[in-house]
Formats: sequence, C-alpha cells, structure tokens
Amino acid sequence: MNITISSLEKNHFPVMLDKVIQICNPSNKEQIFIDCTFGGGGYSKELLKFPNIKIIALDRDKSVIKRAEFLKKKFLNQFTFYNEKFSNLDKIIKADRKPDVIIFDLGLSTFQLQDYSRGFSFKSKDKIDMQMGLSNTSAEDVINTLDEKSLKLIIKILGEEKEAGRIAKNIIKARENKKIDTVSELVKIIELSKKKNFNKKINVCTKTFQALRIFVNKETTELIDGLIKASQLIKFGGKIIVISFHSIEDKIVKYYFTNYSASKSNPSRYMPSESNKKNSFFEKYKNNFLIPSSEELIKNPASRSAKLRHAVRTGQPFVYPKDFKEKFRKYTDIENVAI
Ligand SMILES: C[S@@+](CC[C@H](N)C(=O)[O-])C[C@H]1O[C@@H](n2cnc3c(N)ncnc32)[C@H](O)[C@@H]1O
Repeated sequence: MNITISSLEKNHFPVMLDKVIQICNPSNKEQIFIDCTFGGGGYSKELLKFPNIKIIALDRDKSVIKRAEFLKKKFLNQFTFYNEKFSNLDKIIKADRKPDVIIFDLGLSTFQLQDYSRGFSFKSKDKIDMQMGLSNTSAEDVINTLDEKSLKLIIKILGEEKEAGRIAKNIIKARENKKIDTVSELVKIIELSKKKNFNKKINVCTKTFQALRIFVNKETTELIDGLIKASQLIKFGGKIIVISFHSIEDKIVKYYFTNYSASKSNPSRYMPSESNKKNSFFEKYKNNFLIPSSEELIKNPASRSAKLRHAVRTGQPFVYPKDFKEKFRKYTDIENVAI
C-alpha cells in the first residue's frame, strides 16, 4: 500500500480532541502545556490557537521532528519540541516554569502503525522492528535471542496472552532452522500456535504484538516514571491527562490517580490517617473516565479502546510514591530482562 504523509495527515484524528481541550481549558492568560506524546501534533496544534499558551512538546520518535519543526517555524515564541522520552520530563521542565497541564496520549500513532517498514502492524511484510525511538533493542533481536521461558513470560504478562506457552515454544522451534526475519514469518508462527480464538473481534496476533512492542519500548516503566515526574513537576492546581489504549496502561493510571488522591480512604484502620494524607497529591478521584463518542468511533475506529482519565494536583508536597513502583514491579521487572 502506498501511503503518503499528506494522505495520512488528512486522516489523522487526535483521540477525544474536544474533551482534551475542554479539560485543558486554555485561556488568554499565560499558561504552559506539556504535550508528552506529540505524534501528529493534534493537541498541540489546537492549543496553539491561543496566543498566550506556551507548548513544550516531546516525542521519542525522531520521525516526528520534521512535523514539529514546521510548527516551530509558525509559532516561534509559543512552541518548543524535544526528541526525548517522557520518563525524562525532569530534564526538560525548568523548576521555575511549572506547567498547568501535562498530557500523555499513550501508544502508537497512526503514522507509526501505518509505516509498515517499522513492523508494528501484522499486515507488514518487513522486518520485525517495533522501536518507537530511543530504545536499545528491536523485536527481531527479542524473538531471535531470548530463551523460551523469558519469551513466554513477556507474551503472557505484557500481552495478557493465554496461549503464550505454545507461541514461545514455536518461536524457538522455528528459529532452530532459520532466523525469524520478517513480520509475515512471525504472524505465521502465531497463527499456527493459536488453537482457540477467544475473541473473534481481535486478530490472533494482537496480544503477542502488543507484548513485544511494550517490551521493546519499556512502555510500563516509561508510564510509571512519566506519571511520577509529572506529579512532581506540575503546578498546584494543574492537571495530568492520560489517554490509555489497553488494560495494563489503564490499570496503572487508575491506581495512581486513585491511590494518591484525597478521596483514598485510610488503607488500614490501624494506620494513622496522617501517614496516608502525606501522599494525597491529587484531588478527590473517583474512577471517572471518558471514552470516545459514537460519532468519533465511526470516524476513527482505532479510538475504540481509548480511555481518558485526568487528575488535579493538590497543594500537598510531593512524596516519592515508592509503593506505586512496587505495585507494578511484575511488569517493569519483565521489561528489564537482559537480552
Ligand atoms: C498516540 S500517539 C500521539 C498522537 C498525538 N496526540 C496526536 O494528536 O497526533 C503517541 C506518540 O507518543 C510517542 N511516545 C510513546 N511513548 C513515549 C514516551 N515514553 N516518551 C515520548 N514519546 C512517546 C509515540 O512515539 C507516538 O508518536
């Protein structure tokens, strides 16, 4: 398929754009917004319509630099871009310029998914790369070098794939004959391994591809560190907005906003409420989230799994949330398996 950048730009629909802008509530005052996942720049472009808004955008993917430079030329005094991971937010945001809003629109952009040379799509016939940018390894290295036990764990835990054991076994078997070079070879292995199709609506490869992509890009580690840094850096009264696309991401965001919010009840009646209060750096949060409207789903079916959550920072001083990292170690430990 020959997809040109301009045809993609035309069909690029930022997920829940109206809802994101409404929560950002841009005004004529000077405000600083951080777009942690610039991608096609959908949110940044809309917010730049307000002349007193300053946007600091980042993205780990160097292929977005061109698009960001175009915006920089047009909005010289309002827009800055960094090719950086959001786990490094603290390297970018200066302590004396605290942001009003920090936005995370997680996962892949349409541009990444539809560029088949990057190997994110199971429709690709190219090499199995799956690097979003600034990562140390490719999915090709992962499936051709890791042992069966680690592969099974990655596919089972990060992909929530029930048939991970058989898929891992068949990957090992296939590579005994020949290196697994292309996405189509991997797709064939997964299709042969899957006995049951538990959910006919999703492709049999979806979960394994999700697992490999999360592993290659250390996505849960990124999300956890990004959220912690955002709550440390944002101004009191500022908002953190997260749009997630699968259950692991959403579980992490929901836990973080709920567990460190003022509404969190004392976890134990034996624990003094004062020690619980210390970590109430978000206002009351009651598991509220937004999903795309039916009109948006028709226009952009890829938004169907999106969930938007946002939390408001209180004036409580930041205390490092050690137990948050501990809670999700199951995922981050796997992401750190050496290859
Ligand atoms: C869903 S797209 C964002 C789309 C964007 N909101 C728009 O309107 O076009 C996600 C983008 O975030 C980037 N990304 C994902 N994880 C990241 C991370 N840890 N740090 C920086 N950028 C990241 C991806 O490279 C991708 O371009």
